[in-house]
Amino acid sequence: MKLWITGADGLLGSAMVKACDELGLSFVGSTDVDIRDERAMQAFADEHGPTHLINCAGYTAVDKAEEEQELAYAVNCDAVEKMGRLRVKVVHFSTDYVFDGMRETPYTEEDMPNPLSVYGKSKLGGEQRLLEVAPGSCVIRISWLFDNRAPCFLTKMQELVSSGKPVKVVTDQVGRPSYANDVANATLQLLDQSGIWHFANYGAVSRHAWIQSVTGQEIGKALSADFASLAKRPAYSVLSTEKIEQFGVSIRPWQKCVF
Ligand SMILES: NC(=O)c1ccc[n+]([C@@H]2O[C@H](COP(=O)([O-])OP(=O)(O)OC[C@H]3O[C@@H](n4cnc5c(N)ncnc54)[C@H](OP(=O)(O)O)[C@@H]3O)[C@@H](O)[C@H]2O)c1
Repeated sequence: MKLWITGADGLLGSAMVKACDELGLSFVGSTDVDIRDERAMQAFADEHGPTHLINCAGYTAVDKAEEEQELAYAVNCDAVEKMGRLRVKVVHFSTDYVFDGMRETPYTEEDMPNPLSVYGKSKLGGEQRLLEVAPGSCVIRISWLFDNRAPCFLTKMQELVSSGKPVKVVTDQVGRPSYANDVANATLQLLDQSGIWHFANYGAVSRHAWIQSVTGQEIGKALSADFASLAKRPAYSVLSTEKIEQFGVSIRPWQKCVF
């Protein structure tokens, strides 16, 4: 077995590299193979002979995607379909933003997606096109990815709070934070699986309560409508992780992840 990790210098890609290193797995990371270029991907696959492609690359700028629709679709959708044609087992990541967040109970893998944003639509397109061309692929939906030692929403908020500037965080977006290292370790347990899976750490929480809990500081409250964000985000995007837990992956609360 040999893993190919795309986007190896991103938030999740770095955690994936670290997990493989720690377990002594055979892997190769790529940072300069443009996943929109099918020939470049094929050449890399021919050179390194991976058995699995773990796709940690993606267009992840949720607001900017509203203005860069073509690029978001090229990276999150078209490129993922191209991966499906490489004759390598693909493990791909998607997002809670495929759901509209209109309900109040956790979303299962069976629930109907209805993305509100270009980012969410491009990610849903990627899942669907990949599973059409390569039904044996594995798609792992994750939510609110964080790593306390890497740039992400959480560390951005921590920096703002420690700079002493007034910080306001929304109370009307509820989800389950996913610790990048835990996502990476869960992924390694799903290498031989196919179809859609949900992973997130335990503890549904609002963005406001999450940041307040992690920083231990009183944080100002805001509503999504108070910010002039380009993209709409789901109000409630809690993923159900029943399927992955029944499979045998154990999940800890986000509060137990290193802070
Ligand atoms: N972050 C979250 O909260 C979150 C939540 C749910 C799901 N996800 C999903 O999880 C996955 C990983 O997200 P992340 O937060 O780790 O992303 P990230 O930190 O933004 O990293 C994305 C990586 O993709 C690379 N990339 C972008 N366009 C590329 C292209 N055309 N060819 C090759 N590489 C390209 C980037 O390289 P450059 O830096 O050089 O552009 C970067 O290394 C994505 O599929 C994302 O949709 C993330």
